[in-house]
Amino acid sequence: MLHFSEFSGDPKKAGKGDFAGASQDSISYHYDRGVDFYRLWLGEAFCYSAAAFIDPISGTVANEDYKAAQFANVDNHLKAVRAQSDFRLLDIGFGWGTLLQRAHQEFGVKELVGLTLSREQQEFVAELRIPGTELHLQSYENFVPEGSFDGITCVEAFEHFAKAGMSREQKVAAYKGFFERCHAWLRPKGFLSMQFGVWGTASREMADRIVPRDVFPESDLPYFDEVTESSQHHFDLTYSFLNTEDYVRTLNHWRLELKNKMNAVVSESDVDTYRFYDRYLRRAVAGFKRDRIRLCRCVFKAK
Ligand SMILES: C[S@@+](CC[C@H](N)C(=O)[O-])C[C@H]1O[C@@H](n2cnc3c(N)ncnc32)[C@H](O)[C@@H]1O
Repeated sequence: MLHFSEFSGDPKKAGKGDFAGASQDSISYHYDRGVDFYRLWLGEAFCYSAAAFIDPISGTVANEDYKAAQFANVDNHLKAVRAQSDFRLLDIGFGWGTLLQRAHQEFGVKELVGLTLSREQQEFVAELRIPGTELHLQSYENFVPEGSFDGITCVEAFEHFAKAGMSREQKVAAYKGFFERCHAWLRPKGFLSMQFGVWGTASREMADRIVPRDVFPESDLPYFDEVTESSQHHFDLTYSFLNTEDYVRTLNHWRLELKNKMNAVVSESDVDTYRFYDRYLRRAVAGFKRDRIRLCRCVFKAK
């Protein structure tokens, strides 16, 4: 694992690999910092993605409570793919397993397949022993499934599917590869539910400057039009929602928890790590407040 001070911002230093997106070394650099470290400030919901506080139609607050908003978000993705008991679900980038767990517990899904590039996440979720679950420490880029899926979820992994420094054409080609695979793996007319950050008012030049390479090496956000262009051949976009408030509230909650648990966080890691995370979360809040970055939720239906 690289320490923050060893990482120069040069993507080549973060790890090798033939992936269009972030390599396993780069994912490990961010995510394999101790399950307890993340658990302390991500809390019981254990999601590392924006919660659903805001009602997408009225713009009013639908969930005040953080944990309720996180579970509402996960459940919305599961509803979007029509998850039910007689169902085979693929979750790309399963994190610490909350969506897989709720798919089993709340929707009765019998067959669950998950992908991650974080060894710690895989080991942690394996210990949860969610019935009917198959976990792969593997990128979607070299995953070869046995059989098709009734639905696919991908919550905030897409930000790792193109490397910083790629041209627009290269990014769109990488994203097309993702949508092509999802289409090939899904049953006809099946749904893919996604969530990711997108560049908002940040120009390409500004985006290149503000992408936090020491936080998420070999990663970049898409622009929304890159998503529509790369998906349109294989999918109809049936729903999309862009906002910033869900992420501002989520990030503020994480920052507060990080501060409240400061002593424990420091003893799980060290004071540099605490400061590093606090700074990155604070900068992310500013990015969303200034509309440089937006949160996007999309539901796609296979053509
Ligand atoms: C920000 S976390 C989101 C985790 C989870 N979906 C959640 O909402 O809490 C990003 C996840 O994407 C995974 N990931 C990144 N690149 C990946 C790839 N190429 N293939 C599969 N998973 C990947 C990481 O391992 C991590 O689990």
